[in-house]
Amino acid sequence: MRLFKWSKMHAVFIPEIDAEHQNIFRLADELHQAVVGGAPADRAQALLRELIAREEDHFAHEERLMRSTNYPASAWHKGQHDTVRKRVKEFAPRIEGGEREAALLLLEFLSGWLRDHIRLADCMMAAHVRNYERAQAVLAS
Ligand SMILES: [Fe+2]
Ligand SMILES: [Fe+2]
Repeated sequence: MRLFKWSKMHAVFIPEIDAEHQNIFRLADELHQAVVGGAPADRAQALLRELIAREEDHFAHEERLMRSTNYPASAWHKGQHDTVRKRVKEFAPRIEGGEREAALLLLEFLSGWLRDHIRLADCMMAAHVRNYERAQAVLAS
């Protein structure tokens, strides 16, 4: 079963954000396939580190965007990112220790979280950013 499959339903219509989401889905899917398929632990750990790094870059990118456009719901949105940061901190040492079950639990959590977060919080933020940029363009013209 594929836990991570990006589709148009996940689009937020900011090309860089959509590209980052697609990359996160691809890495999470690779990690999931590796864990389910019994790949060597070092392969799963390398993928996990890459996934965590790309996800942190992505959260930081969205948080910069929210700050620079004075997004009113940024604290709520960042709180959702912090939930993932906390989960990853809890689970990463167990996964690094070779606990396959911990990797599966984290991936299951992430799969539901990404779907819900992108479809609500990221879509709301992206709509705000697009409106903000349109308004700035009008002001500048
Ligand atoms: Fe987000
Ligand atoms: Fe996002």
